[in-house]
Amino acid sequence: NVYAVILAGGSGQRFWPLSRNNRPKQLLNLFGDTTLLEDTIRRLDGIVPPERVLIVTNAVQQPAAIEIASACGVPAENVVAEPERRDTAPAIAFATGWVAAKDPNAVMAVLPSDQRIADRAAFQSVLGTAVATAAAEPAILTIGIKPTWACPGYGYIEVGETVANTEGDAIVRDVVRFREKPTTEVAEQFLADGGFVWNAGMFIWSVATARNELSEHCPELAAFIDETAQATNPLDTLESSFRTLPKISIDFALMEKASRVMNVEATFDWDDVGSWISVAAYLEADANGNRSNIEITSVDSRNNIVFSENADPTNISLVGVQDLIIVRTRTATLVANRHSADDIKKLIELLPSAL
Ligand code: GDD
Ligand code: MG
Repeated sequence: NVYAVILAGGSGQRFWPLSRNNRPKQLLNLFGDTTLLEDTIRRLDGIVPPERVLIVTNAVQQPAAIEIASACGVPAENVVAEPERRDTAPAIAFATGWVAAKDPNAVMAVLPSDQRIADRAAFQSVLGTAVATAAAEPAILTIGIKPTWACPGYGYIEVGETVANTEGDAIVRDVVRFREKPTTEVAEQFLADGGFVWNAGMFIWSVATARNELSEHCPELAAFIDETAQATNPLDTLESSFRTLPKISIDFALMEKASRVMNVEATFDWDDVGSWISVAAYLEADANGNRSNIEITSVDSRNNIVFSENADPTNISLVGVQDLIIVRTRTATLVANRHSADDIKKLIELLPSAL
């Protein structure tokens, strides 16, 4: 059986003031009618039945996640909350134990919930190839995105020989090495060398492969998988031992060290939408390059990004300004220079209670 584990417990500082601790990126309605979490669940329609979808989040985000999951047919008990944020490796270890308790022979797809992917058919075909390969080989399957710039925020995968005789249409390659979040200089070198793809943040493996790789490289997490799988109720280990696990992402804990990794070439569009600048690419632009999610009126203004929770056309108006990011919610307003979008993080440090 195939299970899907959706990671939805990250924090959401970059989209402040729209994002808050209880409403990070995956719970926002950035592109119209649906949230990224809902899109992630619906992208599995027809390949993973809703009762085999597990959503791992935390207590402050759980109510919103349950509401979205229920609307997509995922049972509320499949939306579980971690007692504290310990990054992705412990979350994934818990999920692996939860899946193992139901089916020790399962293949599972670990998916982030914070990405924009429009081509569902291509996504399903690539995932299908990854699942079939993970069922047949004791390997961790990753998905590779063609890199377009030296982004230091992603994992980089050096791919090698094409693996013959794999199922499905997508191309599968052996992985030579995995390097998480290199410096910009190293990323530039990777791009110049060629042969590197971005890690899409999706991992497909059998329960047995996950257990074996973790026992070798992160025994505490392997032990936690077993403890969770054998517990009377798998949720009990979140209370008893989750807090003692190392706080680390799966990329550093396992992927940089794992022995047997393969990569499936993505044929779908992919955007990790990391900032207001990336969101702006999907918003309607006027003749002067102002992009917004609502109707705005502007005089002599260029290249501004405007986002408001209030669609009233007089909610935000511009005169003689350029290169601004203006975000307005019911309770807060951000005005930033678009060249300083990354500094929203510094603002949050000064305003911890605003999160
Ligand atoms: N349950 C839970 N608990 N989920 C979490 C936690 C946690 O403590 N921390 C993060 N997540 C969720 C996020 O909500 C997101 O959906 C996913 O796990 C990935 O975490 P990010 O924090 O967004 O990771 P990243 O974007 O810095 O890096 C990862 O994704 C990149 C592609 O977007 C890595 O896998 C990179 O290698 C990859 O390139
Ligand atoms: Mg991310």
